[in-house]
This record gives sequence, C-alpha cells and structure tokens, in this order.
Amino acid sequence: MVNVETQGLRKSFGDTEVLKGIDLRVPEGSFAVLVGPSGCGKSTLLRLLAGLEQATEGTILFGGEDVTAYAPKDRDVAMVFQSYALYPHMTVRDNLAFGLKLRKTAADIIDARVTEAAAVLGLEPLLERFPRALSGGQRQRVAMGRAIVRRSKLFLFDEPLSNLDPALRTQVRVDIRKQHDRLGATSIYVTHDQVEAMTLADLLFVLSEGEVQQVGSPLEVYEDPANRFVAGFVGSPAMNFIDGCRVSADGAAVLVAERRLPLPPSEGREPSKLAGREVCVGVRPHDMSIVEASAHAIPFTPSILETLGPEVHAHGTFGAHEGVVAVSADLPLARGVMVHVRPTRLYLFDQATGATLR
Ligand SMILES: Nc1ncnc2c1ncn2[C@@H]1O[C@H](COP(=O)(O)OP(=O)(O)OP(=O)(O)O)[C@@H](O)[C@H]1O
Ligand SMILES: [Mg+2]
Repeated sequence: MVNVETQGLRKSFGDTEVLKGIDLRVPEGSFAVLVGPSGCGKSTLLRLLAGLEQATEGTILFGGEDVTAYAPKDRDVAMVFQSYALYPHMTVRDNLAFGLKLRKTAADIIDARVTEAAAVLGLEPLLERFPRALSGGQRQRVAMGRAIVRRSKLFLFDEPLSNLDPALRTQVRVDIRKQHDRLGATSIYVTHDQVEAMTLADLLFVLSEGEVQQVGSPLEVYEDPANRFVAGFVGSPAMNFIDGCRVSADGAAVLVAERRLPLPPSEGREPSKLAGREVCVGVRPHDMSIVEASAHAIPFTPSILETLGPEVHAHGTFGAHEGVVAVSADLPLARGVMVHVRPTRLYLFDQATGATLR
C-alpha cells in the first residue's frame, strides 16, 4: 500500500501536449477512478505512473518517494490492461506464476500465491488451460490474478472490463471491488463507464483535454459539479443544458422556455450577482417529474421513447431546446406534458466559461 502523488505532470508527444500539469493525490489504500472522454490522456497518465512512458515535466511520488526516473520493474506496480496481454503459449498457472518466477521468488511461495489467487478468482478448474480456451471474462480474471500474485503496492487498471459482455462486466466489477477491499492495495482505475466510475470509486478524477476538471467522491461530483463539462460528463442520461436563459431582475427565478422557474434561496448566492444575467440552465433527466399544468413547470414534447424496463427515457423538446426526461414507465407520455424541477435541482452555468454559478 502506498499513496500516490503527482506534481505538475506534463507529457507531450512531439508538439502535442497531452497532459497539461496533473496534480493527483491518491491516498494510501483508496480506489481512485479516472474518467474522461476518449483521447483526454487517461492511458497516458497510467503509463507514466507505471513507468512505461517518461514524463516531459513534473514529479511522481509513491509513498513520498520520487519514482519519476525509476524503471517499471523498480516501481512495484501491477497493471491490468484492456487487452489482457496473457502469454498464449503458457497455461493459466504459468501465466499467473510468470511474474514471480522472473523475480526469482521461491517455488513454494509461488505455488501458495497462485493457489490463493486462483481460489479468490474462481480459476482453480482452469489452471491447466491455455488462454485460447478461456472466455473473455476468464481471461480478464487471469490478468487480474497476475496482478494479485505479485502483491504489488499499487494496482493500475486501464479499462479492464471493456471487452466483456454486460452481465460479466457487473460480476467482474464486483470482484475487483471485493479484491480491493480484501487486499487494500491502492488502486487507480481508468474507465469510460459511468456505472463503473460511480460504483467503484472512493475518489473520482474527471479529466478533460489533459487537465483534471474536478476531484471528489462520486456523489460530490454528481451533486456539485464544478463546471458544465463535469456536469454533462458524469451522470446518465447526461444532464440537459438549456442555453440562453435569463435570471429575473430580482434574482429569484430563471426564465426557461418562457416559464419562470424559482431559484432556491441560497445562503452563498447574492441575488444581485445573478440578477438579469444570461445563463445556461442544467437539469438532470432524473430530476424532472411530470405534473399537471403549473406556473412553475415547463412544457415538454416527447419525440422518441426509450423503454428500459421500469424506466422510460423520453427524448424531445422543451420549447425550442432538445432534452431528455427520465420517468417511470407507467406514466403517460405520448403527447406533450408539463415537467417540474425542484428549485434545488436546477444548476446554473456561466454562459461563456461554463463555470458553475452558485
Ligand atoms: N505514443 C504516442 N504518440 C503520439 N501521440 C500519442 C501517443 N500516445 C497517445 N497519444 C495521443 O495522446 C492523446 C491521449 O491519449 P490516451 O491514450 O492517453 O487517451 P485516453 O484518454 O486513454 O483515450 P481512450 O479513452 O480512447 O483510451 C491522444 O490524442 C493520443 O492520440
Ligand atoms: Mg485509453
């Protein structure tokens, strides 16, 4: 177990700066998840931590020790990739043992660790098989097992579940969290997947274009996004954004689709600060409810209904704005309806910078 810290970490490939000064702080034993759109630098950051790439600038500290210049083998890091990178000509047992053999670990210790990892991951019946005779989920478990037998102090995961079918994803996701809780090794996990991010993370880092946008518990980030990017990226279906809304002259309401939606009385917010200002209004699809006609509700015209068992995601328009409403499947949605949003569930963003206005 080790805490991980980076200071002003930068990485360029040629003229392109991919990481623009990353300051991570991952406490010892915690499970950190990095999320962000494709190409934002997540894998690059993990590869820097593993020592597979060299930083252009900045420092990496494990347990306070500067490891920036260390070779991968001297960092005691186990990395699990999306492609499992198993040795095809070795059995599961040999795949599990290989890293320890390289380190000249005694044979009885190797046997004990392989047996234990196989038991934990349900791999015992598969130990003599070759990777080609395993399903995707089984291969992924072998890849995890190789990390576990090493007893590394830091686990790095780069989208390890993205090749699995949904049922297996859920199962292996739960396995990963169980392993973490049992072994207590610090883990840093990269994913695109909302559910993985929300369920696995003690600490969520939201990245965009090589910069950390926000750090917090999944719930903090969901409830209190720092800006429009984070608000739109975390949560599924994504938050609705309605541009060009105006706050009333008294600062007590915001005009959305020609309706006056009251803003919550807020201790921190001076009404005068927002009065009359043009803002972007954000509303999560799950924060809308269908109501009878009401002065504080906005009209919604559904065009496409996606039924997901108990829930319906209705895609449609609020006046001139496109959006999504998530409601219980037993509600009538066919024609236009009125939707209500609790004042405390309205988000306001600066129209120019996207910063959250509180
Ligand atoms: N070896 C390299 N040489 C040049 N450019 C690279 C190299 N590795 C990565 N990049 C570029 O750096 C950027 C970040 O890549 P990275 O793989 O870190 O993104 P990512 O966030 O992991 O994306 P994804 O979610 O698609 O895996 C991309 O624009 C990519 O093309
Ligand atoms: Mg990647």
